[in-house]
Amino acid sequence: MNAPSSHTLQQLLDARYGQGPQTLDCINETIETLMQHRSVRAFTDQPLAPNTLELLIAAAQSASTSSNLQTWSVIAVEDPARKQRLSALAGNQVFINSCPLFLVWIADLARMQSMGETRGKTTGSLDYLEMMLVATIDSALAAQNAAIAAESLGLGTCYIGAIRNDLEGVARELGLPPRAFATFGMCVGYADPAQRSAIKPRLPQASVLHKEQYNLSVHGDVVETYNDTMDAFYAAQAMKPLGAWDLHSLNRVRGPEAMNGRDAMTAALHRLGFALK
Ligand SMILES: Cc1cc2nc3c(=O)[nH]c(=O)nc-3n(C[C@H](O)[C@H](O)[C@H](O)COP(=O)(O)O)c2cc1C
Repeated sequence: MNAPSSHTLQQLLDARYGQGPQTLDCINETIETLMQHRSVRAFTDQPLAPNTLELLIAAAQSASTSSNLQTWSVIAVEDPARKQRLSALAGNQVFINSCPLFLVWIADLARMQSMGETRGKTTGSLDYLEMMLVATIDSALAAQNAAIAAESLGLGTCYIGAIRNDLEGVARELGLPPRAFATFGMCVGYADPAQRSAIKPRLPQASVLHKEQYNLSVHGDVVETYNDTMDAFYAAQAMKPLGAWDLHSLNRVRGPEAMNGRDAMTAALHRLGFALK
């Protein structure tokens, strides 16, 4: 494995946190791949190499999974008409149409339900919120492994949480059985070089890393610092400034009117077979 130069590491750290005092001495190709991540929302029409899908799924299945229950599935969508319908269901995010492969990750308790029926066993635990969380977490871990694998192959990805705007519409489109729902979609393809995205800075580590016990008092200062970092990032990218990051983010959580239909998710999950006890 070739260790990248410290110059590359410093550039990655600067990009991830904004210019600052961060230094880290050790990096390898895996960490470099992780730190190079940026969401891609513009794709070329270059098809994926043969076996790419199977490689991504092998990486996804290599993730840890709660109790080895493997309570997730994924639907690979390549049909342009279906991508278009899913894009419409996911807030009309038209770039979904431009990726050659759209993966929809599924929190899947249907398989366990079916196993229980085959064996004549009770599956009462599937009715609890805990099992919905297990399946959701499993699907996220699998998806993130696939995303990293895709990026290691030179592909770009973008998660699509808006697939949850209409859980039942998506379930119908994908023919999901009861006790299964889409946690998010994921665009996969080659990034359009004409519209390259940049590494987006994250909060200073002091905001997310607590030693021994949580320390709420750090947040005020680091959020101010991060507001400045994000202002500089948007200016450098010639992107439309969104306003201070904290205010912009708070606007996203202001209330149900900002949730694009996801405020009705509990009822939708009930109808999809999740009792959420
Ligand atoms: C679960 C999840 C759902 C997301 N949903 C969307 C989405 O619907 N549309 C979109 O353009 N980006 C979506 N994103 C991408 C985030 O906006 C992006 O990861 C974040 O702004 C950080 O940027 P970066 O990935 O380029 O570092 C989603 C990311 C995650 C993890």
